[in-house]
Amino acid sequence: MPVILVGSIKGGVGKSTTALALSSEIRSAGQTVHIIDTDPQNSLYRWYEDWKLKDRIVIEDGHRMSQKQLESAVYEASREHPFVIVDVKGAMNEAILHATRQADLLVIPQRASAADLERSIEFLDQMEFIESARRRPLPHRVVFTQRNAAIMSRADREIMDQTREAVEVFSSELFQGDAYKAMFLYRMTLEELDAHGLSRTERARHQVQSLLREIVAIIKGAQQA
Ligand SMILES: Nc1ncnc2c1ncn2[C@@H]1O[C@H](COP(=O)(O)OP(=O)(O)O)[C@@H](O)[C@H]1O
Ligand SMILES: [Mg+2]
Repeated sequence: MPVILVGSIKGGVGKSTTALALSSEIRSAGQTVHIIDTDPQNSLYRWYEDWKLKDRIVIEDGHRMSQKQLESAVYEASREHPFVIVDVKGAMNEAILHATRQADLLVIPQRASAADLERSIEFLDQMEFIESARRRPLPHRVVFTQRNAAIMSRADREIMDQTREAVEVFSSELFQGDAYKAMFLYRMTLEELDAHGLSRTERARHQVQSLLREIVAIIKGAQQA
């Protein structure tokens, strides 16, 4: 089933947060998800080790796998689970190029910053190479992360406009919010945080559910094409 690569060649843009938030809402919708964490920092795998519930989200440590091992891990996971998410280190390297081969969708988190936009464009410049290597198009979109939901500054607007000129952008955004940080702090899903009274997650959950709907629509569209 679909393999979603959450990728960027920059760190700190929100890749791991996006991967975990999406998994959290896939789980809440009653489905299962398999994450392969290929980042040596292992933030998702460490989350999983401490996560008490261990139900409907499986996270595999992929950072020491060879490319062949990774390839078969992704393949096996995609046979077993309705969603597979691959999280990568924020750097342009063989690993991320390789990970693009099996993906059905590339989600590129980006903050509303000029530096992030430059790195997104640098990554997108490789798209022709990536698509010719896999011999089929790779649907891809930027998702804006960590913006202040209350104000749209002039700089934000300019960066977002420039991004939209370069690449397709999800209309859903994952705004700056404590709920996203709380997932990592308390080792819980968004749904659990609310149930335990640790964080108000309603807004974040709406944002993630909306992003998930867009993702599912793109994947369905690509399957029908
Ligand atoms: N939407 C958000 N709201 C608040 N904090 C966020 C959000 N997205 C990411 N962060 C924080 O930003 C930092 C980098 O995010 P992370 O997902 O680890 O990025 P990456 O995986 O791309 O390096 C983390 O401290 C994370 O908690
Ligand atoms: Mg990360």
